[in-house]
Amino acid sequence: MDRKELTEKIPVHVAVIMDGNGRWAEKNGVSRLSGHNAGMLAMKEIIKRADIMGIRYLTVYAFSTENWKRSQEEVGGIFNLLVKYVGSELAELDENNVRVRILGDWRQVPKAAVASIEKALDTTKNNDGLQFNIALNYGGRQEILHAVRSICERVSSGEIGVSDVTGAMISDALYTGEENGNIPDPDLIIRTSGEERLSNFLLWQCAYSELAFTDSLWPDFTPDEFEAIVHAFAGRKRRFGGR
Ligand code: FPP
Repeated sequence: MDRKELTEKIPVHVAVIMDGNGRWAEKNGVSRLSGHNAGMLAMKEIIKRADIMGIRYLTVYAFSTENWKRSQEEVGGIFNLLVKYVGSELAELDENNVRVRILGDWRQVPKAAVASIEKALDTTKNNDGLQFNIALNYGGRQEILHAVRSICERVSSGEIGVSDVTGAMISDALYTGEENGNIPDPDLIIRTSGEERLSNFLLWQCAYSELAFTDSLWPDFTPDEFEAIVHAFAGRKRRFGGR
């Protein structure tokens, strides 16, 4: 049977904090960049499995607004990886009907990466299969601030009054809102590498998300483990504050 038929209990949106590339590199005696490269390979496999499982939205945290504090070499290396990834994978993503979206202030990243992103967005813009969201130069607080400012502008121009501001309006003004086709809030957020915190990821959107943590370092995280976590989630009951 096509596994996409088994979607009844599959979450619509799974978000992943891909943590532990550096520790994986250290453990394996290779450079941090080799760790990120291994992380990229792991990511490719997770996208494929998410698609097979019938997940509609997969969001990965690839580069946070805090990641600029890393060495120039590492930051440059991560963006080079993005360029390499788009170069080698875009055709296959497109063939698989995957739509790529970017969450964050991505126009501020190095030029070559911006060009790759534009190509990926444009090539996949008519696809309606799995939506693969890459959080890039992304920060949850910055995202909320950006949304609040855009709403304040509407208030100060007199378009709307203060009491007209709603939660839905804030959701719409986030990176996950109208500019990216209104991505539903994540049902499940997975973080690898044993750290149990959100690190400024999807702060507004995570209000009712289930959280799952695993000790696996991201490059060691397999599609089977991903699938097992998603199925364990599917067995949990979410009450959204009700009974
Ligand atoms: C966290 O591990 C990982 C990152 C900051 C970068 C994630 C990047 C990739 C998986 C590469 C490819 C992504 C794309 C979209 C091409 P860490 O370095 O914080 O690990 P550590 O905590 O063990 O040092």
